Amino acid sequence: MLSAQIKNAKEDIDEFCRKLEKSEKYFDASLCKHTLLKIHPLLEGIITDHDRKLVTEFWYRVAHYLGVQFGIDAALEADRLQEEPASEIVTSMTDAILGEGKKLEDALEDTALIKKVKQLFRECGIPVGMKSDIVKHAFSKPRGYAGDYGIIEIVYDNKISSRGIGYCADKRFLNDDYARAVRSRKTMMRKMLAAFLGNPPGPTVKILNVACGSCREIKELFEQKTFDTLEKIQFTLVDHDQQALDFSMKVLSHSPSNVEYRTLCHSVYDYLKEPETYRKIFDGQDLVYTIGLADYIPDQRLKDLIAFLFSVVRPGGKLVFAHKDSKNYSPLAPDWWCDWTFHLRDMQETVDLVKSSGIRGYNLSVERETETNIIFFIIIEKTT
Ligand SMILES: C[S@@+](CC[C@H](N)C(=O)[O-])C[C@H]1O[C@@H](n2cnc3c(N)ncnc32)[C@H](O)[C@@H]1O
Repeated sequence: MLSAQIKNAKEDIDEFCRKLEKSEKYFDASLCKHTLLKIHPLLEGIITDHDRKLVTEFWYRVAHYLGVQFGIDAALEADRLQEEPASEIVTSMTDAILGEGKKLEDALEDTALIKKVKQLFRECGIPVGMKSDIVKHAFSKPRGYAGDYGIIEIVYDNKISSRGIGYCADKRFLNDDYARAVRSRKTMMRKMLAAFLGNPPGPTVKILNVACGSCREIKELFEQKTFDTLEKIQFTLVDHDQQALDFSMKVLSHSPSNVEYRTLCHSVYDYLKEPETYRKIFDGQDLVYTIGLADYIPDQRLKDLIAFLFSVVRPGGKLVFAHKDSKNYSPLAPDWWCDWTFHLRDMQETVDLVKSSGIRGYNLSVERETETNIIFFIIIEKTT
């Protein structure tokens, strides 16, 4: 049915959009047409008939999808539709088009082509996507990189802030597997910290939090418990973004009096260039942890980082890092909508990275958050 409609002639495009305008309650036919015309230069550059057919079919679905999204936007603006029912349509259609996008990615012979398709998808969809404050932040990356402390704070707050179609996109974003997993990761890390401080190795403990962002898990930890029996809890907070560190110091200013903070504005890549210099700064940590970083780091560098962080753990101490499980998670919405990608690994692949990182003298265990089953924590205890 769809393939019969797929001819590149302009009349066919008009006919396709006209039919949808009649069948869809909320639809922007001119946007649909505009979207369809946009794909032509890309189609002309595709070498195989196989790939051209797949991209064409997918793009008609995209035009349908975006036609409805822009139609919903107009209906919300005109008060012909309310945000909650609109949200249901937006979510189910978004899930469906992302599923089609995944199928396309798996089926294309030319892997570079998918990047161009995603880019065009964003270009056509972003005028409506930008009406969501959250999508706008994730897409425009105001700190110059994906996954800054600000967007993670938004995910933790879990509050819709936009109106109209923006409300629908905020809601879809906050309910995405990614956001649910990030919230659950933070909660699990808070619990791990509480367990660690509840059974401390001595009266003074040293904890290094790498890529600390907003330190929400620490803030929540001390809001719930104070660990008065400990003489001193020394946190070293590292992030490459000074704004994240400044934000953290502000939110942690009400911590108990036995807690000390040291902030260091470093990129972890500096540790790989000059490990000896940085080792002296950190040596002898009881606990080193990093959540929300490993998925952004390519294999060899992650191995080197694991080796460096393990080297600053004292014997008997632990290195803990969190990772998303590619078996349970496909980052479709961040990727297609916001050009926000991760290094995808499953648990075994990540364990294998640790094993080939060159570290010696450890016990390795894995724990999972059970809220989404997406995040696992690798726990490496130094034995010697
Ligand atoms: C996804 S956030 C996670 C923040 C925090 N750990 C949390 O879970 O809420 C990633 C953090 O890593 C920091 N970051 C990214 N690349 C980094 C690098 N190369 N060195 C140090 N920090 C980095 C970012 O600034 C950001 O605060």
